[in-house]
Amino acid sequence: MPSLNTVTGAKHARIYSVGTYRPRRVVTNAEVCELIDSTDEWIRERSGITERRWAGEGESVVDMAAEAAKIAVERAGIEPTDIGLIMLGTVSHPYAFPSASVEVGELIGARGAPALDFAAACAGFCYGVGMAADIIRGGSAKYILVIGVERLTDVVNEHDRGTAFLFADGAGAVVIGPSDTPGIGPIVWGGDGSQKDAITMTASLNDFRDGLVPDYPTAVMAGQQVFRWAVGEMPKATKEALEQAGITAADLDVFIPHQANNRITDALVRALDLPPNVKVARDIITTGNTSAASIPLAMDAMLQSGEAKSGDTALLIGFGSGLVHAAQVVTLP
Ligand code: UT7
Repeated sequence: MPSLNTVTGAKHARIYSVGTYRPRRVVTNAEVCELIDSTDEWIRERSGITERRWAGEGESVVDMAAEAAKIAVERAGIEPTDIGLIMLGTVSHPYAFPSASVEVGELIGARGAPALDFAAACAGFCYGVGMAADIIRGGSAKYILVIGVERLTDVVNEHDRGTAFLFADGAGAVVIGPSDTPGIGPIVWGGDGSQKDAITMTASLNDFRDGLVPDYPTAVMAGQQVFRWAVGEMPKATKEALEQAGITAADLDVFIPHQANNRITDALVRALDLPPNVKVARDIITTGNTSAASIPLAMDAMLQSGEAKSGDTALLIGFGSGLVHAAQVVTLP
């Protein structure tokens, strides 16, 4: 049997840049309350959200992802043709094939780059960052574009008071590449299929096609169940991510959890016993819950406002439908 060649890549990986796209249309709580039986006060108190962005014409999953990706590539100081892999996490791309990522590659001038979509719901961005770091260290790509993008308004029933006020649209992208020093800590990830019904769809597209259900399938969430799981289990994952990175909460500059609900963020901050100087992402207030896009959107907002700065040490955690989760410590671009 011949001995096969293998490759090894960079010693370490880091995030070079982040770019984002926020849909044009701002939707207030008052507007949402025209569609569901709710109040601005209830939505603010229970979720922290005051407004969100809903995508419109020219703002498809592919459009938004491409805009975010172009900014990330430009900020990374590389050419689109340098991209060695495009990984796109989403649960709301309306085509089974071809992948959104291969279309994004064409739109940004990265024709030829391998491309794949993957579904890890609200943990998608952290899954992507972890996989990209390993692929770069493994030597199969040098620069990887990791995108988290959602157009959740296509899969949410605007009249469902359990989800309509919460979910929203947007895109975030990062370029990950080789590094002399560690810029992405070990990933702590998992999944629990026994809770697959906690956030799911009302039916499959096949059921709808076959007339088995009257309405187009949309998201349905057991809000309290997910909330309890997040505040009960996610503190363990965040602590483990710190431990595996070899740091403590005192070493952190920034905490960027998935923007699921401000009260979940509050619970995580308390459980982690974060020092008061650690900046905490609260992008949900004006962005809503954008699933795979929420962490890069929040990261970019903090960097652009000056709340966080390049080189800061940040703890990330994504969690959602599956139920799945992923956490890691990163150095901000
Ligand atoms: O991103 C993926 C992961 N997803 C999450 O992490 C979401 C986790 N879950 C949540 O964030 C929260 O469960 C929600 C924000 C979705 C809901 O908040 P909650 O505090 O868990 O509300 P609840 O479902 O326990 O309902 C409390 C009350 C109920 O009334 P009673 O029984 O106390 O009289 C509901 O009927 O609020 C009522 N309610 C509403 N009232 C006004 C439920 N939805 C609404 C609404 N507006 N939209």
